[in-house]
Amino acid sequence: MYGWLYTIIIYPIIFIFPAYAANGAPVIFGKGSKPITSARFRGRPVLGSHKTRRGLAAGILCGVLAGFLESLAPGFGFMLAVGILESIGTHAGDLLGSFIKRQIQVKEGHPAPLLDQYPFLVLALAFALPLVSHFPSIYGIIFLFALTWAMHRLTNLGAHRLKIKEVPW
Ligand code: CTP
Ligand code: MG
Repeated sequence: MYGWLYTIIIYPIIFIFPAYAANGAPVIFGKGSKPITSARFRGRPVLGSHKTRRGLAAGILCGVLAGFLESLAPGFGFMLAVGILESIGTHAGDLLGSFIKRQIQVKEGHPAPLLDQYPFLVLALAFALPLVSHFPSIYGIIFLFALTWAMHRLTNLGAHRLKIKEVPW
């Protein structure tokens, strides 16, 4: 009876969880680490100072760990592979988002609607395409786009209140 609840909400959350872990971990572990690069392109920083080495490493590790833990559940063995691909995709997308933000002259940490929320999600899904047979349905994917928007707002507000993040966006 609640099959739709599983296919549209619960399974998509299970499926994307490693990407969320990979995206969220740097906020906690990245503080005070060295930038990935201080290189410049067309007179602007390539990534800027907020994309750090420890943040990148911790993000990928936490995403893979999340996928590994999920893979222990019966029938979810494929989640380790999904977790590895999503974690790499998440950070490829996150770095791409920062690169575009710098090129359009948005400063580190300043908001850029869509670019702050979606490059990581889109590339996490794209990198996981080899496991497309395990993808959520199209409604599940649409749900994930809405959920990601809401989570971005909520987690940033929460991190700001907890003084982990300087700005509430
Ligand atoms: N972070 C990090 N290393 C990364 C990614 C993120 O250390 N590779 C940390 C930084 O402290 C960053 C925080 O996680 O400030 C939030 O990440 P995000 O919102 O993606 O970065 P922004 O601060 O918004 O920077 P940008 O404008 O480049 O997107
Ligand atoms: Mg941000």
